[in-house]
Order: sequence, then C-alpha cells, then structure tokens
Amino acid sequence: MADCRICGGVLTEFYDFGRQPLSDAFLEPDKLEGEFFFRLAVGLCSDCTMVQLMEEVPRDKMFHEDYPYFSSGSSVMRKHFELTARKFLETELTGPDPFIVEIGCNDGIMLKTAAEAGVKHLGVEPSGGVGEVARSKGIRVRTAFFEESTAVEVAKEEGHADVIFAANTICHIPYMDSIFRGIDALLKPNGVFVFEDPYLGDITQRTSFDQIYDEHYYLFTARSVQAMARRFGFDLVDVERYPVHGGEVRYTIARAGAREPSPAVAELIAEENAAGLATLPTLEAFGAKVTKIKEDLVALLTKLREEGKTVVAYGATAKSATVANLCGLNSDLVSFVCDTTPQKQNRLTPGTHIPVRSPEAFSNPYPDYALLFAWNHAEEIMAKEKAFREAGGKWILYVPEVHVL
Ligand code: TMP
Repeated sequence: MADCRICGGVLTEFYDFGRQPLSDAFLEPDKLEGEFFFRLAVGLCSDCTMVQLMEEVPRDKMFHEDYPYFSSGSSVMRKHFELTARKFLETELTGPDPFIVEIGCNDGIMLKTAAEAGVKHLGVEPSGGVGEVARSKGIRVRTAFFEESTAVEVAKEEGHADVIFAANTICHIPYMDSIFRGIDALLKPNGVFVFEDPYLGDITQRTSFDQIYDEHYYLFTARSVQAMARRFGFDLVDVERYPVHGGEVRYTIARAGAREPSPAVAELIAEENAAGLATLPTLEAFGAKVTKIKEDLVALLTKLREEGKTVVAYGATAKSATVANLCGLNSDLVSFVCDTTPQKQNRLTPGTHIPVRSPEAFSNPYPDYALLFAWNHAEEIMAKEKAFREAGGKWILYVPEVHVL
C-alpha cells in the first residue's frame, strides 16, 4: 500500500483505471515492442486530503527530448497565457530588477510575452525538444528538471525571482518537498509561487476522469494545496478559477506571513468542505460515473460499428490515453485520430495503437461521427470544423456523460 507523497498519511484507493501506457508515448508503427505500462489508480490521503496516483512513473520516461506536447497548439491557450504574462508584468514585475522563472515553460507560450517586454526571465524545462522551440522564440531556457539543486544553482547564477510560475506542471511532480525547498532557495522574500492545474472540483463535477493519467500525479484542491504549502513553510494567499483545460485553479503561494490571504481562499475551501469534495463518498460516486461513461461509450461505438457508420477521433490528447485504454478502444471502433502535432502524426496511440493522422484526413472524406478527445478545446475546434456539422457529421462527447451533438 502506498503512503501519501506529501504527508506520509494513509492513502485509500478509490478508482483503478487498470493497465495504462505512458499517455504521451506515441509509437512508431514498426517499433511496438517494449511498450511501458503501469497500473493507473487514484487514492485519497485521509490526513491531508491530497488526491494522488497510487503508482509513480519515473520522470525521465515521461519528460525527455521527444516529449510531443506543445502548449502553443491552441489559440485560446495562447491568449490565456499572454494575459497571464501581462498581469504579472503589471503587478509583480514592476520593481527595479524584475525576474520571472517558469517551471516547465514548454514551447514558451507564457514567457514569450515577458521576453518581448524585455523582462529578465528563465524557463526551466526538462523536455529538450519543446524547450528548443521556446529558445527559437528568443526565450532563455535551461534544460533541467526543476528541483532543489536546480533552484539553488539558478539563484546563485541569476539572482532571486519575483515570480515563479508553472502551468500544468506542478501536478506532474510527485517530489513536492524538493520543489518547495527549491522555491525557498529561489524566491525573493516577498515573491510569489503561482501555479495552475486541473481542479478536482471540476473533475468530479464534470466527471472529467481523463484528467487522470501518468503525468497528472496530483489532483489539487484549495484545501490540499493550503495544507501542502503550510507543511513547507509557505501559505496559500490567493485562488482564481479559470475555465481552460476543463476547469483549473490558479494558486498563489507566498512565504508564511509575507502576504495577507485573499478572502477567496477561505471561500473556496468552505465551498469544498460543504460539497465534501475530497471525501471518499464523493470520490466513490465519481468512480461509479466513470464506469457508467465507459460502458455507455463502448456501447455507442459498438452500435455505430454495427450500423456501418464511420467514426474517427479528434485530438490525440494525453487525456485520451486514459479513456481509450479504459474502454479498450481500437482501430475497429475508431479508424484514426487526427491531430495538428507533426510529432504525433503517422504514429500510433499509446496502448491502443490507433493511427494518428493530420487534420487534413478529417475532411477527406468527413466521417459520420467524430469522438472529441480534445473536449477541453471544444469551442475552438467546433468553430474551426463548422463544415463537419454542416455536412451532417456529429460530435461524440463523453464528458460529463456520453452524448452526441
Ligand atoms: P491538450 O488537451 O492536452 O491541450 O491536447 C490537445 C491536443 O489536441 C494536442 O495534441 C493538439 C490537438 N489539437 C488539435 O489537433 N486541433 C486543435 O484545434 C487543438 C486546439 C488541439
């Protein structure tokens, strides 16, 4: 049995997704041997309430030179991070020698705006390929995993930071003790550590179970983040909700006593407690809904195959590894997945080995149904693919339940 990775408390498992591959390991068709699998299961810590995976995948298997996820692939996300950077430039980065560090800067979607404004910045990014794309945009990147030793070196070489930011990265990192010691080493006395990740409140409310995969080690709540921050000598001083990626919370952390917490923190924690968010009954009810989605989706796709309808999937997301492997999808049920990422195209989806094609294949000819794996980008994709509906095509969504649009 696993112990809580934050506080050492007892973990109670509440859902087992079974054998799952690395969610971003798209395979070359002639290199299928040795595919890595692990047991994807989630549990709740009865002490600090942190929801987390029961098994940890070694970080180098997930984040490396060929990591194929590029944050800048969505126009909505580009706008979101431009506004994020602008907000920092207007608030936290107005002093004499401002410095912003981003943990997991990916292709530079956020730091680009800081770099263009001429503000001192540094991205710390372990995945070489995406980091190289950031460099090509004029962004300074250090190819490394952020941890205590990296932070100490950065502080020595570059000075202390006003802002340490991370988006969709902190929930990827099991070893929070080293992260917080690193934040302590690198942050100015009144600096802020700001991170945003998928929110457990949205995940349970929408049954967006596919947010659970190898890279998403933690599913945060305001309460569990507050407990985590306090454990490491910091405090949660602000929370903001954002609709991106199906619902996220941006947490602002400062050194204990350095800043007055905003009322939004107590309000969100009170809301979570009233809803019994990180409690076993809520999480077990969530699990029952996941099983129902799995059964409904398999039944729908099987029926469509029997009727001779064509079905393709849209967006070879990391999330889709969870749903595809949980449901045992294959290229009989879903002919191919289309995706804009060249590094994913002409490869096979992890575990389920469904071919990935470019978006041009989608309209050539249009399928009868499109299973929207990238449901978090639904508005952007449906607007772009308006002609698909006009040609009689239908979207299949499976969050919050299986439905056809
Ligand atoms: P994400 O949900 O983790 O952001 O992944 C989105 C995936 O979907 C990524 O592989 C890029 C792909 N994608 C498209 O193929 N077309 C699109 O219009 C968008 C927004 C994303």
